[in-house]
Amino acid sequence: MNTIIEKISGDINSDQPVLQKAAQIICDGGLVAFPTETVYGLGGDAFDAQAAGRIYAAKGRPSDNPLIVHIANIGDLDTLSDKVPDMAYRLADMFWPGPLTMIIPKNSKVPSTVTGGLDTVAVRLPSHPAARRLIELSGTYIAAPSANLSGRPSPTKASHVIEDLFGRIDMIIDGGDIEIGLESTIVDLTGDVPVILRPGFVTQEALKKAVGNVLLDPALMTGVSGDVRPKAPGMKYRHYAPRAELIVIEGRPSAVSERLRSMAAEAVLQGRKVGVMVSEELSHGFDNAEVICLGRRNNEEEIAKHLFDALRQFDEMQVDIIFAEAFSQEGIGQAVMNRMLKAAGHRIIKV
Ligand code: TXA
Ligand code: MG
Repeated sequence: MNTIIEKISGDINSDQPVLQKAAQIICDGGLVAFPTETVYGLGGDAFDAQAAGRIYAAKGRPSDNPLIVHIANIGDLDTLSDKVPDMAYRLADMFWPGPLTMIIPKNSKVPSTVTGGLDTVAVRLPSHPAARRLIELSGTYIAAPSANLSGRPSPTKASHVIEDLFGRIDMIIDGGDIEIGLESTIVDLTGDVPVILRPGFVTQEALKKAVGNVLLDPALMTGVSGDVRPKAPGMKYRHYAPRAELIVIEGRPSAVSERLRSMAAEAVLQGRKVGVMVSEELSHGFDNAEVICLGRRNNEEEIAKHLFDALRQFDEMQVDIIFAEAFSQEGIGQAVMNRMLKAAGHRIIKV
């Protein structure tokens, strides 16, 4: 398939012709990768069951893993659901447009291919101006998972999308580097108490402040074990995974630093190509290893923004093993560590 790549500038008026062209492709049943504030999305018409089928095929994604429907106005909630919980409007008022996805009961207008056969639908109103304009211009809603091949880290740069999906979709809108770099927070509103199914930039603390009690899906930080299964189907897959083995070291910074250096040195001696993923503070003192610094330790936003790109860079460098520093789980650190531990298959060493 021929994939068109078009750059946008961020000025919504001069970007209009590109967005118009993309909207037309979506109306015609095609697929367009576009920037959002969280990660790049792979969009198709949310009311077109065949477009959903094409999304699953392009990503190589299992079709029981539902898609998020992106809307342009809060009122659009009522088009997708006949039973919108009051809580949804309250959260929408506070956090939309922005990096929050809500799970609500779906109505019959939403094709079951989009929701992976579930009777609920995931809805998000993104804040990225080009994403919103694209939804408006398409005259429909846009079903969009992250624009990566299934199992690879979500794309935070247009080059990541090109790497994974060039030749498999109709168009890629290059909007430059993504602002947040981790996927949206997903909150399930179908029970009495909201439950976070995937942590993100909108933190549990912020949600609690807004609406009171908010729980965390117990499977999130432990991975799938015994009866504990994540409620978001996508969270059960080994995701975000680099090709190399990834081991996370947690503890006081001085102890972590010492252990990282000794484990890296030992692996180098064994003839392995070693990657190290650390804060700026711990980035020194490694010999013959590929060191990627994610940012300053107390700057979770910077770390979040660089994590997926770092995992992809290690793939490119073809390292055999990666040692990573664990970060604080406060605030958006919860989302950072959720992604890192998933990438590591929950291999963590406490020192
Ligand atoms: O930030 C984001 O959310 C990005 C951008 C493009 O908006 N999208 C994204 O989509 O991350 P995706 O498909 O990569 O992740 C969606 C997650 C999956 O884990 C899926 O299982 C879960 O949302 N999900 C979707 N619909 C659901 C539902 N009805 N119930 C439970 N989980 C659902
Ligand atoms: Mg994804």
